[in-house]
Amino acid sequence: RVLVVDFGSQVTQLIARRLREDGVYCEVHPFNRVDEALLAEFAPRGIILSGGPASVKTAESPRAPQIVFEAGVPVLGICYGQQVMVDQLGGEVETADHREFGRAEVKVAQSSALFQGVWTTGGAYPVWMSHGDRVISLPEGFHPIATTPSAPCAAIADELRGFYGVQFHPEVVHTLDGARLLSNFTRQICGLSGDWTMAAFREEMTAKIREQVGSARVLCGLSGGVDSAVAAVLIHEAIGDQLHCVFVDTGLMRKDEGRQVVELFRNHYNIPLVHVQAEETFLSVLDGLDDPEAKRKAIGKTFIDVFEAEAKKLGGADFLAQGTLYPDVIESVSFDGGPSVTIKSHHNVGGLPERMNMGLVEPLRELFKDEVRALGRELGLPDAFVSRHPFPGPGLAIRIPGAVSKEKADLLREADAIYLDMIREEGLYDVIWQAFSVLLPVRTVGVMGDERTYDWVLALRAVTSTDGMTADSYPFEHDFLSRVSTRIINEVRGINRVVYDVTSKPPGTIEWE
Ligand code: XMP
Repeated sequence: RVLVVDFGSQVTQLIARRLREDGVYCEVHPFNRVDEALLAEFAPRGIILSGGPASVKTAESPRAPQIVFEAGVPVLGICYGQQVMVDQLGGEVETADHREFGRAEVKVAQSSALFQGVWTTGGAYPVWMSHGDRVISLPEGFHPIATTPSAPCAAIADELRGFYGVQFHPEVVHTLDGARLLSNFTRQICGLSGDWTMAAFREEMTAKIREQVGSARVLCGLSGGVDSAVAAVLIHEAIGDQLHCVFVDTGLMRKDEGRQVVELFRNHYNIPLVHVQAEETFLSVLDGLDDPEAKRKAIGKTFIDVFEAEAKKLGGADFLAQGTLYPDVIESVSFDGGPSVTIKSHHNVGGLPERMNMGLVEPLRELFKDEVRALGRELGLPDAFVSRHPFPGPGLAIRIPGAVSKEKADLLREADAIYLDMIREEGLYDVIWQAFSVLLPVRTVGVMGDERTYDWVLALRAVTSTDGMTADSYPFEHDFLSRVSTRIINEVRGINRVVYDVTSKPPGTIEWE
């Protein structure tokens, strides 16, 4: 196992992800919580110091606890982590005139265990840099093993102590061989074997959940999506009937989705579940609203009200379980306090824990979507459930631009089910990140048989993406789109025209509202 000491870089969690992908267990701990006790208990075979936004040139900037250099295990410093290591071990860092951001090319000056099997001496390789400071003199025992024109110590090593540093970020995909360098560190240098799996995560996490909640009660709101379902099943495995699941059915879900969730929990897992049928409540709250943000806020607030009422009926709980993923953590940080503007106010149960005075149990906080899916499979969730496309909290309400009604929601649900079925039949469901239909507030004239029609327009959307932050429209064959259009118009009375959305994100967003 490896300890990742976090100095606050936006990409720290990617280090953890690369290691886990490579079968090496690791944990990320903030720099100021790493002490002797933690090291003794965690007993890492290697330590990685992450990057971070600070400069070691400022007095109050974070430092690594000196103990990490005295633990007798290899240490890899990345970017700020390298500078901290150099500074604390007696070398020197300066603020460069030339800041380096983005792609750079490193030249390998010396062979090293870090580069084994990937980079050879004299070769030049693309890496991703993001730094203002640079190392100018090395502590005793170190020597440079790779350079760039503006960073003479782009990679450094002290083989005797097993200390390594890189100025670039091996954890991001733009550093082509980055994952191999990290693998070399954990396997060649720390001597780990890489046999960790999701099964081990499952075991470790259930133990942690037990430790966190003790004999207390935990409440979990199921959304119908993969994340909350995986979180609930994992927590149930840990604490059994101390977990109480509540599924608020907004009536704004995809076809059959509500039924599937209830079946999965009650029949497949035998986990008791309260199914709150709240379609009418949500539709009446939405009545008369057509502004996207007003709709989102109304749904978020109603969700909290309904959930809270249900929680009270159950007699309350000490903890609230959430299926928060790592990308949600980053996004909500910039959403809540950061300088970025709010594009859409995301719907989740934010605010609930404080209001109800509950602690949070978030077992998926360190995972990415594909890892959650792997964990779901490990826990025995049916594949059709695990590989399901993401679905936004506000549901179909934001796929009906303008005013929402039950009639519109029903129309959209039917048409969407046909579209998704055809995508599955075509074998494309798993290559697409998200596919859905949008019922436009526009009616157009058509002709069916000998009749004039004046019906609604349906827009189809399908995108590829890796994290939902950016996306491309999926390039379907024309023939496929025509077949979808024909089936929908023939089978769903009320829709007489189908169009395809070819907008990428940015400038569009994935959802229409
Ligand atoms: P946008 O439309 O912002 O969506 O490009 C990016 C991803 O987030 C999903 N999404 C949401 N998920 N609550 C959620 O849990 C929300 O309020 C919400 N709004 C959008 C969207 O489906 C896409 O996957």
